[in-house]
Amino acid sequence: MDTLEAIKGRRSIREFTDEPISEEILTEILDAARWAPTTSNQQRWRFIVVTDPTVKEMIKKVSPGIFALPAAFIVICIEKAADATPWDEWTYAADCGVAAQNMMLAAFALGIGSCPALSFAKEAIGEILDIPEGVEPALIVTFGHFERLPEPPERLPLSRIAHADRYGKGWEA
Ligand SMILES: Cc1cc2nc3c(=O)[nH]c(=O)nc-3n(C[C@H](O)[C@H](O)[C@H](O)COP(=O)(O)O)c2cc1C
Repeated sequence: MDTLEAIKGRRSIREFTDEPISEEILTEILDAARWAPTTSNQQRWRFIVVTDPTVKEMIKKVSPGIFALPAAFIVICIEKAADATPWDEWTYAADCGVAAQNMMLAAFALGIGSCPALSFAKEAIGEILDIPEGVEPALIVTFGHFERLPEPPERLPLSRIAHADRYGKGWEA
């Protein structure tokens, strides 16, 4: 699939079929995350792939932002520096977002739907997944086969969100 086609065609999927995702595809999705850029190439993200039905139910229970039980969750965690500053915390969030988008685009190109979720109980997720001290779950992404691609939610026009040379002069193309 063409990159722009994937970027524009991907939608957040909140209804999945029961079909499992092959290990080969999950590995490809993880590899897409591995190739994401990170601040100073720090690569502090860690990825927990959850396909066990019992563990999936436990994750869903503590995640109000997750509406469907997917074939797989990938919990993106950050292995924090011992002396992490507020600046580091900001880079961690950015790095996780970039990795998540790589995974969602790769998944979409491979015919798999996904949805990111920030709305989950961090502490509970830490306990369920045995996440050690100093590692923080930052973002959860659901993955699964899907039957229907939702209509795209409206996007603001470029003239509203992009500026030419300085803030205030809307981009007109
Ligand atoms: C950081 C982040 C957190 C999100 N959290 C949730 C969530 O908790 N639950 C959910 O259903 N969707 C979540 N979304 C998905 C957005 O609602 C969705 O991307 C937006 O409505 C645009 O739709 P689209 O992804 O189909 O283009 C999140 C998206 C991002 C980028």
